[in-house]
Amino acid sequence: MPDRIGVAVIGTGWIGEIRAHNCARHPLVENLYLAEIDTAKAEKVAADTGARLWTTDYRELLQRDDVHAVIVSTTPESTHYPIARDALLAGKHVLLEKPMALTLREADELVEIARSNRLKFTIGYTQRFNPKYAFVKECIVSGRIGRPVTALVSRSAPLGLGQKLATRSGLTPTQMEATHDLDFVLWCLEDARPVRVYAQSAYKVMRGMGVDAPDCVWTIVTMDDGTVLTVGANWILPPTHPRAIIATIEFWGTEGSLIIDDTHREVLFYRPDGLSIPMSTMPGEQIMHVYQGPMQAETWHFIDCVVHDRPVLVTPEHARRVMEVTLAADLSAEIGKPVDLPLEYA
Ligand SMILES: NC(=O)c1ccc[n+]([C@@H]2O[C@H](COP(=O)([O-])OP(=O)(O)OC[C@H]3O[C@@H](n4cnc5c(N)ncnc54)[C@H](O)[C@@H]3O)[C@@H](O)[C@H]2O)c1
Repeated sequence: MPDRIGVAVIGTGWIGEIRAHNCARHPLVENLYLAEIDTAKAEKVAADTGARLWTTDYRELLQRDDVHAVIVSTTPESTHYPIARDALLAGKHVLLEKPMALTLREADELVEIARSNRLKFTIGYTQRFNPKYAFVKECIVSGRIGRPVTALVSRSAPLGLGQKLATRSGLTPTQMEATHDLDFVLWCLEDARPVRVYAQSAYKVMRGMGVDAPDCVWTIVTMDDGTVLTVGANWILPPTHPRAIIATIEFWGTEGSLIIDDTHREVLFYRPDGLSIPMSTMPGEQIMHVYQGPMQAETWHFIDCVVHDRPVLVTPEHARRVMEVTLAADLSAEIGKPVDLPLEYA
């Protein structure tokens, strides 16, 4: 691996644009390349980031020897598996946005290609790079809360966003939102394995708007060491709520408990047209000279791992386990019964 690398970002919508800017700001990135099927977007992001070139066909970038790493930030989510597969087969290190695939068979194939070709492969579970979340993990690893007993994470997203995500992907709040929290709680309890999943969902708001998606899914995960985790996500915050995704986390141990407020009430912006909550998106944003939020640290971690041959924080095997739990949750909510793990291929 050279001292400085070439990175390609495939898909430069909201998230891909953030990734591209963060790659352009990293001192070990020699050249940035972009692939985007929307030419107007591609041209603008290329101009803003100083990308060496852009194309509408990502395969052109995979053929280049001076592209060492690829970030896949495309939608709809059905594009993740085929594009990541092409990139891994072309010998590129890959950072792929969640969900890593739509089926466990696809996920296993990606994990296997990355493993056999000795490539870095990681999934965008960005919240691990949020200091509040890292603090919970640190308290658990160091034993400061004793042995973990139970956890509760609740996440809410605005109705408009829910409508957009459900329509775009056909996926549920479990796979689009709670997946971040399931990754987080399973990461906190890395020595234990999930063995049973029970979930329930409600259908009142979305269906009333003509969208066939659950309003919320609540999932209880039982671990093999007896720990019980509850993770819930909804996307029905009414339009009068300031546009923000809000979460609360409670982690209970034998010797202490942690309550984390991730509702972004640090900065409230009152204006004649209403209240807004700035700096409240999950990936974060650039504020003048400084980046607020976890996505820059995550993107830079990936680049550092590629250049210095270090292990990635989010392993594909772990992401596969998270995916298995999200699929089991949706299955459980559908059939109204607990689902034991491991899941068989569908
Ligand atoms: N980590 C996080 O915090 C976080 C937050 C939000 C979204 N996400 C994930 O990031 C992904 C991107 O989300 P987004 O909000 O940026 O979506 P988006 O729709 O704004 O952007 C996706 C882009 O991909 C482009 N695209 C589609 N097919 C392509 C192809 N074959 N080649 C090149 N470009 C292609 C589209 O034209 C679009 O511009 C989603 O899968 C989502 O789940 C992650």
